[in-house]
Amino acid sequence: MPAETLSFSSVSKRYRGRAGEVVVLGKLSFALAPGEALLLVGPPGSGKSTVLALAGALLRPTSGAVRYGERALSSLPEHALARFRGAEVGFLFQGFRLLRGWTALENVALALVPKGLPARERAARATASLEALGVGARASFRVNDLSGGEQQRVALARALVSEPSLVLADEPTSNVDRPTAELVLAELRRRKDCGATVLVASHDPALVRAAGLCDRMAYFEGEGRVRVE
Ligand SMILES: Nc1ncnc2c1ncn2[C@@H]1O[C@H](COP(=O)(O)OP(=O)(O)OP(=O)(O)O)[C@@H](O)[C@H]1O
Ligand SMILES: [Mg+2]
Repeated sequence: MPAETLSFSSVSKRYRGRAGEVVVLGKLSFALAPGEALLLVGPPGSGKSTVLALAGALLRPTSGAVRYGERALSSLPEHALARFRGAEVGFLFQGFRLLRGWTALENVALALVPKGLPARERAARATASLEALGVGARASFRVNDLSGGEQQRVALARALVSEPSLVLADEPTSNVDRPTAELVLAELRRRKDCGATVLVASHDPALVRAAGLCDRMAYFEGEGRVRVE
């Protein structure tokens, strides 16, 4: 599916805790065209992962609207959001978030279930994806038995196997070896070159920039303030 414009209009996210209200995001607005890459930088706790979760419809804003093309994500019912995520979104999570106890192959093949492909086709595509990322020999290993770099490669295969139009990568280069970091960024760049919109949160902006994943910048300045350029 071709990418569509991702837009945030006055999006805020607040949490009400015992110590009062925490403003994680205050009135953020921006629009990203198909094929554009946005690099999110800022200190820990400044809201980068929150923005990725809002873009991927894993969170709803407290106020404001998130749209992907014609879809108003902030007001769709949960079943429509699940369909949106399955069809359009590839998520590379901070800390992998693979399903422990499942094999690498099962983790990747699961991302193809929303495509409605038969099981044999899902397994074939997942295998090819793992092989392309250099972890084909680990396909039948349970992910908890893999190294950090191997887990990140499996997580990347899961994120990209369905050829998503919107790719959300949260700290894709942290806690992995340098070759894995470079491979991950090169693969994200390939999705962008296929027309996908890509958001990357990173504590390693120079590496992300060098990989050509930075058409726009979002600077997270704390207390909900974000500057997008
Ligand atoms: N359910 C919640 N209730 C209250 N506060 C929350 C909740 N979820 C997240 N937060 C707060 O939101 C803030 C932003 O978190 P977020 O994970 O988006 O930051 P980040 O910029 O990705 O940080 P890091 O660089 O460490 O990954 C944090 O201060 C966090 O404590
Ligand atoms: Mg984060």
